[in-house]
Amino acid sequence: MDNVQKTVWVTGASSGLGLHTAMALRDDGWQVIAGARSFTGGQKDGMTCLPLDVTDEESVREFCRRAAEIAPPDALVQCAGMLVLGSCEETRTEEFRRVMDTNWLGMVRVNREVLPVMRRRGGGKIVLFSSINGLMGIPFQSAYTASKHAIEGYAECLAMEVKPFGIQVMLVEPGDHRSGSDKYRPHAAAMTLESPYADAYESATARIHHDETNGSDPDVLGRKIARILDRKRIPFRKRIASADQHLAVYVHRFLGARINSVVLRKYYIKRTKKA
Ligand SMILES: NC(=O)c1ccc[n+]([C@@H]2O[C@H](COP(=O)([O-])OP(=O)(O)OC[C@H]3O[C@@H](n4cnc5c(N)ncnc54)[C@H](OP(=O)(O)O)[C@@H]3O)[C@@H](O)[C@H]2O)c1
Repeated sequence: MDNVQKTVWVTGASSGLGLHTAMALRDDGWQVIAGARSFTGGQKDGMTCLPLDVTDEESVREFCRRAAEIAPPDALVQCAGMLVLGSCEETRTEEFRRVMDTNWLGMVRVNREVLPVMRRRGGGKIVLFSSINGLMGIPFQSAYTASKHAIEGYAECLAMEVKPFGIQVMLVEPGDHRSGSDKYRPHAAAMTLESPYADAYESATARIHHDETNGSDPDVLGRKIARILDRKRIPFRKRIASADQHLAVYVHRFLGARINSVVLRKYYIKRTKKA
């Protein structure tokens, strides 16, 4: 990094990949202004931590106002996210809405505050956390998958629109990383033992939990993003995943969703009676 200290605003920076990315950027010399609901304000671990609820317009405005008073963003990294596990049939509208409101509309709200600032300054870099789920579905993660697909489409539009203003956009598509907290992965209220999907659901959620617990190293992801943000030009897509998950994306793209769904179904739902 050059001698002039750059500033990055990071959402969802109190835990998981957001925290690891924020720490890697701090270690790389960036001034980090971090946002999350659990922050109350003040300095922590060499970062400025401000309260931010991305589902609340007023909170987003207040975060951006306070952050801009400290330093405007050379880069914005949006990691705030959550998922609700459940079958498509039984996940309630309100549960779908909560996931979309946090993962996708949360990004939209923060971008709408940050874009005018970056435009006036003649440029900036925006990093949006998607997922492998932004490229293909995984059973019992439909709300999350829909939100990440929304982010993928939204980011393509955004990148084209803001390019003339010197603003670059990058989608990060992580595979499983051993960073996420179960508190951001609630089960849909209807997913009880009485559910017609109970056996398949149990098998799939055990697999999901296993893969995350044994997932890739979040520090490595944070350092990769810090290295990329140091470049003049950043790629539009950066997938950071295990070899297996890279392969799954290629199978999905080149052999089609139908073949991929046979493979994925076997992988996630193989030991069930009802499935
Ligand atoms: N971990 C993985 O394997 C993985 C894989 C692919 C993609 N991702 C993506 O990476 C990002 C981080 O996920 P993670 O699993 O590593 O972390 P995580 O432990 O699930 O943390 C989620 C973060 O989002 C914040 N958050 C949740 N709701 C928020 C809201 N309404 N407003 C502001 N902040 C909010 C939480 O902070 P507060 O509770 O303090 O607000 C927390 O810092 C997400 O976008 C996720 O989809 C993760």
